Amino acid sequence: MIIKNGNTVHLQGREISYIMMVSEKGDLLNFHFGKRLDESDYSLMYDEWKKGGFISNDLCLDELAQEYPSYGYRDLRMPAYEVENIYGNMLSQLKVKDFIVHENETAQIEGMPSLFAGDKKADTLEVVLCDDAIALEVHLYYTVFDEYNIIARNAVIINKADANVTLKRAYSASIDLPKGDYDMITFPGAWGDERNIVRTPLKRSVMLEAETSRYTSHNLNSFVMIAGSEANEDMGDVYGFSLIYSGNHSTAVKTEMYGDVRIMQGINPFQFKKELKPGESFATPQSVICYSDSGFGKMSREYHDVYRNNLMRSKFTHMDRPILINNWEATYFEFDEEKLVNMAKIAHDAGIELFVLDDGWFGKRDTDNCSLGDWVADKKKLPNGIEGLAEKINAIGMKFGLWFEPEMVSPDSDLYRAHPDWAISVKERTPIEGRQQLILDLSKNEVCEYIIEAVSSVLRNANVEYVKWDFNRMMTDMPYPGFNHAFTLGFYKVMKGITEAFPNVLFEGCCSGGGRFDPGVLAYMPQIWTSDNSDAVARMKIQYGTSMCYPPSSISSHVTAVPNHQCGRLTSLDARADTAYIGTFGYELDITQTPKEEIEEIRKQIAFDKKIQPLVREGDFYRLQNPFDSNFCSWQMVSKDKKHTVVYAAKILVDAHTFTGTLKLKGLDPDKKYKDTKTGAVYSGAYLMYKGKRMNYERNDFSTEIIELVEA
Ligand code: DGJ
Repeated sequence: MIIKNGNTVHLQGREISYIMMVSEKGDLLNFHFGKRLDESDYSLMYDEWKKGGFISNDLCLDELAQEYPSYGYRDLRMPAYEVENIYGNMLSQLKVKDFIVHENETAQIEGMPSLFAGDKKADTLEVVLCDDAIALEVHLYYTVFDEYNIIARNAVIINKADANVTLKRAYSASIDLPKGDYDMITFPGAWGDERNIVRTPLKRSVMLEAETSRYTSHNLNSFVMIAGSEANEDMGDVYGFSLIYSGNHSTAVKTEMYGDVRIMQGINPFQFKKELKPGESFATPQSVICYSDSGFGKMSREYHDVYRNNLMRSKFTHMDRPILINNWEATYFEFDEEKLVNMAKIAHDAGIELFVLDDGWFGKRDTDNCSLGDWVADKKKLPNGIEGLAEKINAIGMKFGLWFEPEMVSPDSDLYRAHPDWAISVKERTPIEGRQQLILDLSKNEVCEYIIEAVSSVLRNANVEYVKWDFNRMMTDMPYPGFNHAFTLGFYKVMKGITEAFPNVLFEGCCSGGGRFDPGVLAYMPQIWTSDNSDAVARMKIQYGTSMCYPPSSISSHVTAVPNHQCGRLTSLDARADTAYIGTFGYELDITQTPKEEIEEIRKQIAFDKKIQPLVREGDFYRLQNPFDSNFCSWQMVSKDKKHTVVYAAKILVDAHTFTGTLKLKGLDPDKKYKDTKTGAVYSGAYLMYKGKRMNYERNDFSTEIIELVEA
C-alpha cells in the first residue's frame, strides 16, 4: 500500500513501513525504514525533527538520510550515481519533481528480470527527480507488496540535455540507516566452497565493499545483510539486500561521521561506464530490500516466499521435480550409447525418473579442450544422435535431460573457425583461455540469436525435458567499461528467448558448480547446481549458507559416490541422502557399480523424497544448528499449515560423550500433537520446541538423521 500525505510518502508492507519525506529544499529523504507505523501524516513531525538537527544546515546534506544521493555539492558521502555532465564536471543535485503511484503494478525493467505480482497485491511508487542545471532526470521505482516485508527498488537515469553525458555509476538503491551498532554479513567463497558466512562489525568510519568484478561468482554472492550487532537466527533487526542481477555487482557500505550507515547496492561501478545520448536512458537492475525484526531466519523465509512466488517464472517452481541421475561423475567424457542406456535401465529400476547426459556428447569432445559451440551429437559415441538416445531412455520409462554450455566456444571448434570475432577479445592481446575455452560475446545480437537457435534446434529435434545450463570459466578480456553489463543483458535475452520457447523444459543453472547462484538466474531456471563439491559434510556449510537467501527448492543437491570425487571423504549413503533431501534431490554416481543392498536403499530414499517434495517446495525453512560454529548442522521444513515437518540433523565428528544433546525444533504449533512417522512416538509442539527432542547419534563421524513428524 502507498500512502501520500503532505510531503511524505509511506510504503506499507505486511509488517514494515518505508517512509520518505521531501525537505523544504526539495531533497528526497528517508524518514523511516523498519517496523510498521500507522498511517499518520509524518510531515507533521518534520518541524520536530528539524529542531532536533534533522535538517540543521542549508549548505550541507551530509547528515541527512537520503534516498538517492548525489556527490560533491551538498553531500560529500559516497553517491548513488555519477554523471560526467555536459559542462565536463561531475556535480549534481537532484530535487523532487513528482510522485506517481502505479496501483496494482510492479516495476518492469527493460531487458532484465524483476519481481512480478502474481496473485499478490503490489503497488509501485515512481519518484521523479530532476537536476535542472544539467538537464538530468532520475526516476526511482519502489515496489511494495501488501503481503511481504520487502521493498524492491530500481532507478532509471535519463539524459535530457542536448549533448552526450557519461554515466559512471548507477546504483539501484541507496539507504542511510540511523546510527547504531551494525554488522555486515556477506557470503564469500571459492569453487567447491561456496557461500561461507562472514560477519564483520561496522565500526565507525568503516568502508566495506562486497563487490565482484566478474559475475555473481563463487567468490562473492550478491546477497548482503546488515544486522544489529545483537541479531542472531531468531532475534534482532536485520536488513537484507539482494540484487536481481547476474553481472558485476557491488554492495557498498560506509559508516559516516555521525555513526549513520549508508548502504548502496547495484551494478559494480568498477569497469562501468555508459554514454547517454540526448534523450537516452539507463535502467538499473532491481534490488530487493527486506527488513526482519526477528533475525536471519525470518528474513530467509521472506526471501524464499518472494522468490518462489514472485520471481521464478518456470512452471516447475511449484511442481514436483523429477528425481534425476546425472552421468558426469559416473563417466566424465568416457561413455557411449550402450553404457548410458545400461545406466538408465538400472536407474529406472531403482525409481529414478530423469536421466541427464552431461558434458561430452557433441562435436568430438573426448576431453575439455574442444567443440564447445558445435551442438551436434558425436556419432562415434551416440550413433543414433540425441534423438535416438532420448527415444531409448523414454522407452525405458524415464525422461531425458541434456547438458549445454551455450555461452562458450572452444578455439578448436567449427563455430570458432567460422566466427573467431564472436569470442570476447581485444585486438591488442591474445585472449586468455579458461578451461581451454573462450566466452562468446553476448553483447552482439547475432551471437544471442545463434545460441538461441543452436540450443532450440536440439530441443526441437529430440524429446529433451530438462536442460543443465553450464558456464565454466572466469570472465576476462572485457573490451570496454560497461561490457559486462551488455553481456549480462545478452544473457537475459537468451534466457528469456529459450525458456519462453520451451516452457515444458525444466532448466537447471550451473556455473562450475555453484557460481552464478543469483536471483537473475532463478527468474528463468528454478534450480541451480549448488556446488561441484558434493561431499555431504562440505555440503552442510554450502547449503546452510545458500539457504540464507535462496529457497531450498532451488538448491540442487545430489547423492554422489564415495570416496567423494572432490575431497576423498567417506560418508554413508544415508548421510549423503539425508543432506540432500531438503533441496532438489538427485543422484550422480555409476549406478551400474552400486551394490544390490544400496539400490534397495536408493529405492526407499526416492520414495521418501517424493513424499516430502511438496513440503520442501512450499514450506517454511528453519535453521536449527550452524555448522560454521558448531559440531552440528541441522535444519527443518515446516508446512504452512504447521501439520507436517521434516528435520535434518547431523553430528559432524563423533566424540566421547554418550549424551549428544537435545534438538529444539522451530515453527511448530505448540498446541498441536506431532507423531514421528518412523517410531510412532507422539510429542506436543510445545515439547519439541521448548524442551527439545533427545538426539542419539551413531558413534561414528558424519552421523545424520531425518525425522518426519505429522500432526497426530
Ligand atoms: C561443471 C559442472 O559443475 C559439472 O557438474 C559438470 O557439468 C562439468 N562442468 C562438465 O564440464
